[in-house]
Order: sequence, then C-alpha cells, then structure tokens
Amino acid sequence: MADTYLVTGGMGCIGAWSLYHLRQAGLKAVNFDLSDDRHRINWLLSAEEQADITFLQGDLRDTDAVKRVFAEHEITRVIHLAALQVPFCRADPVLGAQVNVVGTVNIFEAAREHGVNHIAFASSIGVYGPPSEFPPGLVANDAPQHPRTLYGAYKACTEDTATVYYYDYGISSTTLRPYTVYGVGRNQGMTSEPTKALVAAAKGQPYHVPFSGTMQFQLASDVARQFILAAQQPLDGAFGFNLGGTPATVNDFVDIAGDILPDARIEVADNPLPYPEGFDDSALRDALGTVYDTPLPDGIAETIAHIQRLGERI
Ligand SMILES: NC(=O)c1ccc[n+]([C@@H]2O[C@H](COP(=O)([O-])OP(=O)(O)OC[C@H]3O[C@@H](n4cnc5c(N)ncnc54)[C@H](O)[C@@H]3O)[C@@H](O)[C@H]2O)c1
Repeated sequence: MADTYLVTGGMGCIGAWSLYHLRQAGLKAVNFDLSDDRHRINWLLSAEEQADITFLQGDLRDTDAVKRVFAEHEITRVIHLAALQVPFCRADPVLGAQVNVVGTVNIFEAAREHGVNHIAFASSIGVYGPPSEFPPGLVANDAPQHPRTLYGAYKACTEDTATVYYYDYGISSTTLRPYTVYGVGRNQGMTSEPTKALVAAAKGQPYHVPFSGTMQFQLASDVARQFILAAQQPLDGAFGFNLGGTPATVNDFVDIAGDILPDARIEVADNPLPYPEGFDDSALRDALGTVYDTPLPDGIAETIAHIQRLGERI
C-alpha cells in the first residue's frame, strides 16, 4: 500500500514547501492545519496541483481530532511542523504550551493508537542558550540545552517527550532544528525579516532589518526536503539534529541581495540576535546521508526570481 503523509502546519512556510515537494514527487499528502489560508501554498502550487492534496482544517490541541485524522486517512508517515513561533509563545504562553507541547503529545498518542512507528517533527536551535554558554565555533549536536525563551523551552520539552515515546512505546523519531529559514512563504516569526527584506527589495521598497549578527540561513525548500527524508528514513531511536550551513551575517545576506538587485535599499540594525553563530550538522549528515544545503547566493537568487515571478501576487 502506498504511504500517506500527514503534514501538520502545511499552511505555514516549511509546511507549504513540504506539501509542494510531496506533491511533485507524486506522494499522497494530507495537510492538517488550524488555518485555511492558502496564500503560501498558492505561491507554490496551482489550484489544479493543490487538488492532489487533502486539506483538513483542525486544531492540534484537539486529541480526538488528531486521532481521527490518523484513522480516517490511514496515515503511515508523519511530518509534524505546526507550532507557534517565538513571538506568539511570548504573547500567549498558555496557548504556546498547548499547541507546541500538548499538540506534539497528541501526535505521538495518535501514532501510538494507530500503529505509526516513526515521526519526523520540528524542533529549533531555540532549545540552546545564548552564545556565552558555548565555546567558540559551531555548537555540537549534543550540546546542553538551556533555552531562554518559552518557545525554546517548549521545543526542548517535545524532544524529551519524543525520547520517552521511544523508550516506552518504541516509536522512533527524527527531529530537526532549523535556524533562520528563508525563502518564499517565510513571512512570519522573528527570523522572517531577511526574507521580508528580499520581498521589499524586489518590489523597489526600502526595508529595515531589526537585527544583525552571524547565523545559518536555510532555504525553506531545502528544509522541507530534509523533513521529508527524515520521515522516510526511520532511525532506531529518538534523534534530534541541528541543520547546518555556512554561517553568514545578516549583512552578507543583504550584500548578496544587493548584487542581484543593485537598487535594493535594505538597512540592518546593529543588534545581534542572542543565539550562537552556527550549529554543527555532522550528526545529521552521518545519520541520513543526504543533506539539502543550497549555497546562500543560489538560494537568495532563487528566492528573488520566485518573488519576481509572483509579481503582484506576493
Ligand atoms: N521558520 C524558521 O526559521 C524555523 C526555525 C526553527 C524552527 N522552526 C519550526 O519549524 C516548524 C515550521 O515553521 P514555519 O516557519 O513553517 O511556521 P509557520 O508559523 O509558518 O507555520 C506554522 C503553522 O502551524 C499552524 N498552526 C498553529 N497552531 C495550530 C494548531 N493549534 N493546530 C493546527 N495548526 C496550527 C499555523 O496555522 C501555521 O500554518 C515550526 O514547528 C517551527 O517552530 C521554524
């Protein structure tokens, strides 16, 4: 029997790209999202192409609704992305915990009830603490997690939860920890600013990025493909992996955009984000074999070309 992939949060940025790649590969995808706003998926797939995907609207906090999705759609693979990002968790900590923590428990419970024995899901580099906690260089995959945001604390809790589900029920999991995801569709969340700057620049508008610093930029399309691979290649255990990439500054990002769009007017505030400069992805490379890491100049060029093709639609 062919696999059926559940994507949670497919109306979001990484989710929309996941649905895009699943559909392009001819795989059966079911999206479960609280939102029915298709603006991101409309930037990636035509209405006709979207007809190959099953779109369900529902709340991850609703245990029975999540279980029904597994039962009614005979889910065999899971890419769990739905979550509230840093600013939303800060604004409403209770809701943040309900969606990010309880919602993830609901996914594991549904998997347990319906015999799905592997889950791929999103954590974040937010599980780690500020740069002062780490030696210089890339942070190791097994470095201690001391989150300084509620969002990071909730993500760390989901990683621990996954470990317990492996020991107690044999459900394996692969969680990936993105850093700054960019690309078409990245229009909400703290680190969405560099992408918003590209959209503004492509439209001839000025933009002010409120933070600076060195970080790893990861193309949304690559991140989505990595989640699909993580769902397809179960590992024996509950594993959390950093996504990597060559660290670059926000100013590097803006300079690359300026090479493509010489009239771009993007300012960058002198305000480094309180995260380490980069995270080591060698554990991911060893475990999955393939890592999708489009070089930053190519990813920015691809994103600008995509924005330009969308024209007034974005
Ligand atoms: N974008 C990044 O840079 C980044 C970095 C690190 C980790 N992550 C993680 O990757 C995942 C995907 O990120 P994204 O940028 O695509 O997020 P996003 O904010 O674009 O999308 C999240 C989606 O979750 C849905 N959602 C929220 N509450 C829900 C609920 N109660 N029930 C069902 N759906 C609900 C939203 O409607 C939205 O479509 C998230 O778990 C995020 O924390 C993202």
